[in-house]
Parts: sequence; structure tokens; C-alpha cells
Amino acid sequence: MTSIAVIGCGYVGAVSAACFAELGHTVHCIDTDPSRVALLQQGSSPIHEPGLEELLQRGIEAGRLTFAATYPDVFDARIVFIAVNTPEAQEGAADIRAVRDAVSTVAARLRTGSIIVNKSTVPIGTGDLVAGMAERAGCRSIAVVSNPEFLREGSAIRDFMEPDRVVLGSDDRDAMDRVAALYAPLNPVVQRVDIRTAEMIKYASNAFLATKISFINEIASICETLGADVEEVARGMGMDTRIGGQFLKAGLGWGGSCFPKDVKALAHMAAVHGAHPQLLRSVMDINHDQRLRAVQKVRQALGDLEGRHVTVLGAAFKANTDDLRNSPAIELANLLHLEGAHVTVVDPVVPAARLLALAPHATFALDAVEAAAGADAVVLATDWPEFRALPWHAIAAHMERALLVDTRNYLDPATMRAAGFEYRCMGRPGAEGAAASELIEA
Ligand SMILES: NC(=O)c1ccc[n+]([C@@H]2O[C@H](COP(=O)([O-])OP(=O)(O)OC[C@H]3O[C@@H](n4cnc5c(N)ncnc54)[C@H](O)[C@@H]3O)[C@@H](O)[C@H]2O)c1
Repeated sequence: MTSIAVIGCGYVGAVSAACFAELGHTVHCIDTDPSRVALLQQGSSPIHEPGLEELLQRGIEAGRLTFAATYPDVFDARIVFIAVNTPEAQEGAADIRAVRDAVSTVAARLRTGSIIVNKSTVPIGTGDLVAGMAERAGCRSIAVVSNPEFLREGSAIRDFMEPDRVVLGSDDRDAMDRVAALYAPLNPVVQRVDIRTAEMIKYASNAFLATKISFINEIASICETLGADVEEVARGMGMDTRIGGQFLKAGLGWGGSCFPKDVKALAHMAAVHGAHPQLLRSVMDINHDQRLRAVQKVRQALGDLEGRHVTVLGAAFKANTDDLRNSPAIELANLLHLEGAHVTVVDPVVPAARLLALAPHATFALDAVEAAAGADAVVLATDWPEFRALPWHAIAAHMERALLVDTRNYLDPATMRAAGFEYRCMGRPGAEGAAASELIEA
């Protein structure tokens, strides 16, 4: 088994490190955030990710997983993964300052024959930049491998342990083989390509998934005007193996820490180099409009939102994570506030302080039933399973007006109507009851 290092212990770094330790490797992790490191050293996860704490604790107890807030003078590990954040910078470009910082610090501390593996999502050409930085730091025989990560928050451990593929990009075959060997216990399909192609596979994959969601959201709005049901349309499309059913869920649009910044960064790279990313721009446009469409549904039912009380169910960008980066639910809460509504947000795992930092005018609540009492509308914004199990009859009975806008098409329309709700959703006019169907027939 191999000794490796992981730089950056966020959603990708902490999960990758814990999984590599579970596979039997010795993993030394470094993060510049001391509070994050202190938690990890105790086997506590700084993020909400199902199954992560168990793996962390097993790795630490087995002596295979260590964490530090400072870099060693010299790395024992010959394979060093970079998993630091690459957020959005000006004009949508990817900000790779953390990658530069990490690489320049790592490069000066590596032994001859080491490999820098980049797991962060980075602009095409960053691998060459990293190789140049390592060389300037005096490392002559160091290989650089791109190994983009495809895990999803909420199912990150399973995604890591059962990858659809492992992509490796480098001009050094031996280095790719050594990195591939780390994943050997998973028996994955390994695609070996050049480094720029590996970097592009990550961006193209995320852009395609975002495109699928924007596509079905556009179909949803056409369904609304023509009286079709987007859920059945998506099901019928998805059964075609050329299309596939995943990422064909109409709703509030995509968000999170990856799709928004990655689609923007790809469009930015394209434009800067003279290509015309019209499709990517439309994909972003449609996504932006989905939030507005959801607000419009509340306004269509209630009229002016000034002084209305609206309870938003969910703050996280999707279920099973506490990640609030580019969360459509937060954007929705802020848009409702802009129209004058008093907004209360309920989320089962997101701490109040983190929510209020992004939605400062909202009120935070843990109990959906209490939060909805006296409200004029409930808007479901995150598909947390907890929300399906709420006592909906009781909620409807205690609201000022029992309006439910299900922006994720997550709840059963007939059950919600039977509970006493005026039910609104995305792209399913028939599911909204007689009034909406009659509107289309007229
Ligand atoms: N979050 C996801 O679902 C996901 C999935 C696939 C790929 N990615 C990509 O992986 C990368 C990491 O994403 P994330 O969500 O894990 O980010 P994150 O913000 O959760 O974690 C990044 C960590 O790196 C640390 N860090 C920053 N600079 C450092 C340095 N110089 N040395 C040591 N530590 C440093 C930060 O303190 C932080 O803990 C990004 O490029 C992202 O696009 C993310």
C-alpha cells in the first residue's frame, strides 16, 4: 500500500483521503484552516456528508489517516493530491490562487520522482502551469497528473468507491500507472489521456449535466403553456437509453459549488480564446430564470407579496448536504424578500448562522410545522426526505392561506391537494388541479 498526501480537506479532499485510507493507503492530509483540521483530527467531519465520520474514525484508529494545518519540511509521500477550492473569480473565470499556493508550497518539499496529482477542477492548461511551477521550484523529475473528481455531495463516499470511471491525464505513463494503482482495489475503468483532455473532460461533464437540467426546465415551461406533464415527459425520454433518465428533473434549477462556477468558467475560457459558447450561455440563462419562475408562481397565487409570510423549506442546494454555495433555495428566499415578503427558512442540517450570513433578512427555523403556522405560502425548495414526511394536513390547517409551491416536483400532488393545499409545481399543469387544466383548455 502507498503513502500519499492530500492538500485541502473540503468536500473532495476529506472524502478522498478517508476513502484512500479505507482502501489501505496511508494518507497525510493538510489544510490551512486550523479549525477544520482540529475537527478532522478528532474524527469529526466539518461537513455534512453521510458515512464520512465513520470512515474518518476508522482511518484514524488504524493509524492510516492524519491531519495537519502546516506543511512538513519534506513530504514522505511520493504522491501528493491537490484538492483545494477553485471558486469563481471576476468575469466567471476560475480562481486558481489556492492551487498556485498549494503547488508552490508542495513543490519545494517534494523528493525526486514524486507525483503531483490535481483533483481540483482547474482551467485547461493548469497542468502545464503546475509542471512549470514545480520546475521553477527546483524539482526536475516530478510528474504532474490530472485526476478530476466526479463525486457528488450527499453520495460522495459511494461515488468515490464505485466510480463510473477514473480519468487520468499526463504525458508520463509511469506516473499514470502509479496513480491508477491507488484505485486498483475498486477495479475501475481507467481512461488515460493527455493532461488538457483530462481537464476538459471534467468541465464538459459538468456542463453537459447542467445542460440536461436546463433542457428539461425549458421543456417544463413549454409543458405549462401546452398542458403536458413534464414528469411523464422526462420519464418517457429517460427510458430511451440514448438519453438516460438522470438529470432530467424539472425544478428550481442547478446550483451548488460546482455547476455554476464550472459552466461559467468553461464559457469564459471559450470566449477568451475566440470560441462562441452560445449553448452554455443559454443553459445559464434558463437556470437563472427558473428562480424567477418560482417566485412568479407565488405572486400569481397571492398577488403582491408585500407583507406576506412565506416559509421556504430547505436552504441547502440539494438534499443530504449542508453546502450553501450557490444554493437555489437561498436565492429564492432572497428574491421573495426583495418582493416584500417575510421569509422563514427551514433546513434540517444547515446551522442558522451560515444561513443568515447568506440570507440576512430571513428568519431561521428548525420546525417546519411551527414555521408555517399563519403563513400565506409554503415553498419547497430543497428535496430533503424529511419534508416528504411532514404532517401536511396539520400544516395546511394552520396556515393563513394553504398555498404550497413545490419547486422540485417532489411531493405527491394528489396527497397535497387532499391535505387541503392549493398545490403549484413546475411544468405539470394537470397536477395542479382542475383550475390550472381549465385555464389551458380555455
Ligand atoms: N464539492 C464537490 O462536490 C466537488 C466535486 C468534484 C470536484 N470538485 C472540485 O474539487 C475542488 C475542491 O472542492 P471542495 O468542494 O472540496 O472545496 P472546499 O472549499 O470544500 O475545500 C477546499 C479546502 O482547501 C483548503 N485550502 C485552500 N487553500 C489551501 C492551501 N494552499 N493549502 C492547504 N489547504 C488549502 C481550504 O481551507 C478548504 O478546506 C474544487 O476545484 C471543486 O471544483 C468539487
